[in-house]
Amino acid sequence: MSLPRLELRRASKTYQSNGQSLRALYDVSFTVEAGSVTALVGRSGCGKTTLLNLAGAMDFPTSGDVLIDGESTSALSESALTALRRNRIGFVFQFFQLLPALTVLENVELPLLLAGAPDSQKAARDRLQWVGLEDKASALPYQLSGGQAQRTAIARALAHSPDILIADEPTGNLDNASGEQVLNLIRESAEKWGAAVLMATHSSEAAAIAQTQIRLRDGRIEETIRA
Ligand SMILES: Nc1ncnc2c1ncn2[C@@H]1O[C@H](COP(=O)(O)OP(=O)(O)OP(=O)(O)O)[C@@H](O)[C@H]1O
Ligand SMILES: [Mg+2]
Repeated sequence: MSLPRLELRRASKTYQSNGQSLRALYDVSFTVEAGSVTALVGRSGCGKTTLLNLAGAMDFPTSGDVLIDGESTSALSESALTALRRNRIGFVFQFFQLLPALTVLENVELPLLLAGAPDSQKAARDRLQWVGLEDKASALPYQLSGGQAQRTAIARALAHSPDILIADEPTGNLDNASGEQVLNLIRESAEKWGAAVLMATHSSEAAAIAQTQIRLRDGRIEETIRA
């Protein structure tokens, strides 16, 4: 049996702030296979972003493990973590987070440059074409609509063909038509590029593209629904 691309194994997270401790996740366990989409749903504050930060190796569980191809993120050295984030994980955020001083093409090319990829500009152009924005290559982010900005962000997140795509409310700031385009791209990330996709969302349309929906409540898995 092959290892799951991404696995949370009894992962818990407690934040310490101002001398208070807040347990944001309790004993969360699930797997995400390559080529599949998993949606995290649940009301504000239930722990979705916390979980995505653990799954994307931006933060670490207080107890339990996050395993990528069977290897715990907590066991990796700083340099292995940097390589993991640069080469194997892509992020899409609710507020796009494009770099304002870089063109659309440069935003998409940046992760390729950081990963030391050959032919980075050509690869970036290919991704822009995939999201239908080759004509915006030299635009600056402020010149884009929200939907175009998010498609740029998806091109950037997938530029280096990451094994794992983490998306936090990717359609949260988009109208229905743009949201649908973005969801199609996210679905393709899994189906065509083979990424293991983990997406937090408040939208039922977004959750509907997932093979698995995980409902969190107060930091625990309340329900898992498989399509
Ligand atoms: N860095 C932090 N330090 C302290 N507490 C935090 C931190 N980040 C999140 N929390 C707390 O952890 C809990 C879960 O927050 P989280 O951001 O994961 O929720 P969420 O499900 O993403 O909510 P939303 O749907 O509003 O984005 C909340 O009570 C939040 O206040
Ligand atoms: Mg959140």
